[in-house]
Amino acid sequence: MSPLVWDLAHIAAYEDLWIAHRVGGLELLHPELAAMYDAFETPRPDRGELPLLDTEAAHTYLADVRRRSEALLAGPLTAAQADLVELVLRHELQHTETMRQVMAFAGLLPPGEPPSSGAWNAPTPAEPWVEVSHGLAVVGAGAGAFAYDNERPRHARALPSFAIARRPVTNATWLRFAEGGGYVRREWWSDEGWAWKEEYDITHHPAVAGTPGEAPVCHVSWFEADAFARSCGARLPTEHEWEKASTSGQLDAVGHVWEWTSSPFTGYPGFTAYPYREYSEAFFGRDYRVLRGGSWATHPRVASTTFRNWDLPQRRQIFAGVRLARDLRSLLP
Ligand code: AVJ
Ligand code: FE
Repeated sequence: MSPLVWDLAHIAAYEDLWIAHRVGGLELLHPELAAMYDAFETPRPDRGELPLLDTEAAHTYLADVRRRSEALLAGPLTAAQADLVELVLRHELQHTETMRQVMAFAGLLPPGEPPSSGAWNAPTPAEPWVEVSHGLAVVGAGAGAFAYDNERPRHARALPSFAIARRPVTNATWLRFAEGGGYVRREWWSDEGWAWKEEYDITHHPAVAGTPGEAPVCHVSWFEADAFARSCGARLPTEHEWEKASTSGQLDAVGHVWEWTSSPFTGYPGFTAYPYREYSEAFFGRDYRVLRGGSWATHPRVASTTFRNWDLPQRRQIFAGVRLARDLRSLLP
């Protein structure tokens, strides 16, 4: 993870690049800081070793950048410029979630976070599965509103019938998986997942103990989610299944935990990078898996049924859980 103070100055550098520089045509406020706070030039493992701005200097940088942005944005904007403003705004909001991941590990979350109650306190639904009959899934963001490049173009795909769980898997269910040999039974794990588990000597889920049993399990890796699904005779949903089921309003899927899908992160057919290749395209085809939904820490302006998050299958820092799916045939007697 990045030092929290890196994120602060990175938010400032990103805003200055896209608002003052690209929209306003001004020079960067601090060109000498650009490389240190560029996510690609300075990857995560390097960030802790650098002479970063201290907290006060980072806040000053943020405030100075914001003053220039506000002056520029007081004037009229083209639609393309307004899109860049939205990009910058959501970028900051996404980093507030990344920072909360660090704060969660460090025990620094403020009181009330994560929320100790939520939709999971509602009575358990009588029918835990939603059945979706075969047909087209229309996936991706429509024209007319801001969307990330990776949400476009909107397209239709034919899907066979499937069933998808109404609720994400709970902590209590995860504990039963762990106690029932979840981390020992080789047959439930993919080869890659088993190798990850062995290499890092992963024998349990460290975050479950002491959590409310009915809350969605959180901080599971894709490898664990995949093994858990197999232990249930189920599987993870594809992102097309997820979006079809959640757009039809049958899942309470946004804002609890991110949900791993089985889908690799790739461009939709006809993808074009916008406004820069490193936002999405640089991650395509490199083992990243798509997560959907959004967690309690995701700002509602970012979380939507078309938003695609992504991470590597071994990562556990995300507020990520599991929603099961299965082929519908297997539900029939
Ligand atoms: C969409 C959350 C995977 O954190 O790498 C932040 C968002 N992009 N700065 C990330 C992002 C550039 C991105 N995720
Ligand atoms: Fe960023």
